[in-house]
Amino acid sequence: MTTVQAPTANKQLLAWVEEIASLTKPESIYWCDGSKDEYQKMLNLMVDSGSAQWLNQEKRPNSVLVLSDPADVARVEDRTYICCEKEEDAGPTNNWANAAEMKETLKGFYDGCMQGRTLYVIPFSMGPVGSPIAHIGVEISDSPYVVANMHLMTRVGSGVLDVLGSEGEFVKCVHSVGYPLVDKDGNSRDDVAWPCDGDNKYITHYPETREIWSYGSGYGGNALLGKKCFALRIASTMAREEGWMAEHMLILKITNPEGVVKHVAAAFPSACGKTNLAMMQPTIPGWKVECVGDDIAWMKFGEDGKLNAINPEAGFFGVAPGTSLATNPHAMNSIKENGIFTNVALTDDGDIWWEDIDGPTPDHLIDWQGKDWTPGCGRNAAHPNARFTAPAHQCPVIADSWEDPAGVAIDAILFGGRRASTQPLALEAFDWEHGTFLGAAMASEKTAAAAGGLGELRFDPMAMLPFCGYHMGDYFTHWLEMGAKGGSNMPKVFYVNWFRKNAEGKWLWPGFGENGRILKWVVERCEGTAGAVETAIGHLPTEESLDLSGLDISAEDIQELLAVKNDEWLAFIDSAKAHFAKFGDRLPQALNDQLNALKQRLEAAK
Ligand code: GTP
Ligand code: SPV
Ligand code: MN
Repeated sequence: MTTVQAPTANKQLLAWVEEIASLTKPESIYWCDGSKDEYQKMLNLMVDSGSAQWLNQEKRPNSVLVLSDPADVARVEDRTYICCEKEEDAGPTNNWANAAEMKETLKGFYDGCMQGRTLYVIPFSMGPVGSPIAHIGVEISDSPYVVANMHLMTRVGSGVLDVLGSEGEFVKCVHSVGYPLVDKDGNSRDDVAWPCDGDNKYITHYPETREIWSYGSGYGGNALLGKKCFALRIASTMAREEGWMAEHMLILKITNPEGVVKHVAAAFPSACGKTNLAMMQPTIPGWKVECVGDDIAWMKFGEDGKLNAINPEAGFFGVAPGTSLATNPHAMNSIKENGIFTNVALTDDGDIWWEDIDGPTPDHLIDWQGKDWTPGCGRNAAHPNARFTAPAHQCPVIADSWEDPAGVAIDAILFGGRRASTQPLALEAFDWEHGTFLGAAMASEKTAAAAGGLGELRFDPMAMLPFCGYHMGDYFTHWLEMGAKGGSNMPKVFYVNWFRKNAEGKWLWPGFGENGRILKWVVERCEGTAGAVETAIGHLPTEESLDLSGLDISAEDIQELLAVKNDEWLAFIDSAKAHFAKFGDRLPQALNDQLNALKQRLEAAK
């Protein structure tokens, strides 16, 4: 193995790199400095090895296309584990494994798994380097694709090692694609375009020692360990211990025509509209939305007692299909150059394509599996979980405050998901406790962001079902405790649903830029200027309080969007009861009380 001069005096870091290297046996070790040159070097490496191709440099400068192995296209929730001493601490919504036993299993897989490859050491900061809300991690990976993506998604490099110093603590993140360039008999073998170990994926988390060990997948949240593994699963446990919040939320800044600014955070499950809402272009005149973050929020109480949020990430890893100039122009403009496109289709002139992008469907494409594609062939051209990676600063509406180390004060929190029925377009919680109940009883139809069960309705509390690193009952308690601490400074809580359908299965609400009408109502509720009607499930907008001017929508559709149907809600109560029962005695009594009170209100309204 080539020995290198490590650019740090941090003993813990040096010892850990040595330990992982002696286990995984790479050919060489490379310490990432985060430079532009290094990023280009990774892209060139990927192109030279056949794992990426340059897109047409005139149409899509400095951008590459990467096609994954069909066995590795999304997060794998059934292969994701919380590993701690006691099973009850992982809770009923997580796969649990004993930490020591899981490490033994993984050591078996890691033994020699980097043979013939380079071990990259990627020091990164989640949040602006040096911010009091930020935290440092170091990812070890054998994938240049991971290095390049981490460059865009986090702050990588020497500055991070400076902050870490010789004694600093960091979250240890080990990743291997699990495809050594030596076969089982010890003979060397060629690399493949997308190395992985599709049959043996392990995405494992050790909250007690703040470690992540990921094996076998190179895709998204399985491999870019700063994102879901660190910034949500490990960070949620840190947040609980330290009195802050790590949430699966976008953060947006909204300015009304009078120049008044509010900040809204929103928790929607994967592929349910966070990126779209975070950078939306409101259709209503005079209102402006700017993006602070599109996926994750870390929130701490500031000196003014308000909940202040930072976006711990530095880039977007966004769902490609459905993104267009019509639906999300600012995302399209964020990916004009310097992008990594994974599992999208390729046009004959070397550009990107996916379902519902702008313009006519081309007569011929190369699909995400590298096959010829023609319209009507019966296959998707892009994988439904195809993604773009792009630096956040390329977003035309990135807020000036997006890198403010102090964060932005959150005025409102939205919950929401995909619900074809039951859940109205918008409602406001009575108070924080009721809002916590709404989040805890959140349900949404499953999307392609995770493998398996597409379309199935499942409870996904606070959009954190796959991302909470500890017992979800304790997580609800943490929400209630944060509310008690913050008192009247806490954000107002709302619940929105862009995905209600009519009897023919068509969206009732046009969504996208029109969601600005709901944001306007939210802001005006925060200011106390918009009306609402009190119903059994919360405060609903009245037709008069919603700005529907210039919107082509029938009065019946609006009524349907705002309808509270007792029978649907009473049926929902039964399933919510069963959902809550799973948390046993760790379910806060307040949430059971909320459920019973809702039932009583519904029965009284019958
Ligand atoms: P993750 O990155 O997986 O966490 O997803 P996300 O929550 O950021 O979802 P995103 O904004 O990427 O949207 C996912 C899909 O939902 C895309 O195909 C969008 O086009 C679609 N979508 C987003 N907003 C709306 C909306 O208001 N209405 C409708 N009908 N579809 C929407
Ligand atoms: C999600 O699934 O919520 C994502 C994509 O944001 S991933 O990074 O793969 O988790
Ligand atoms: Mn997400």
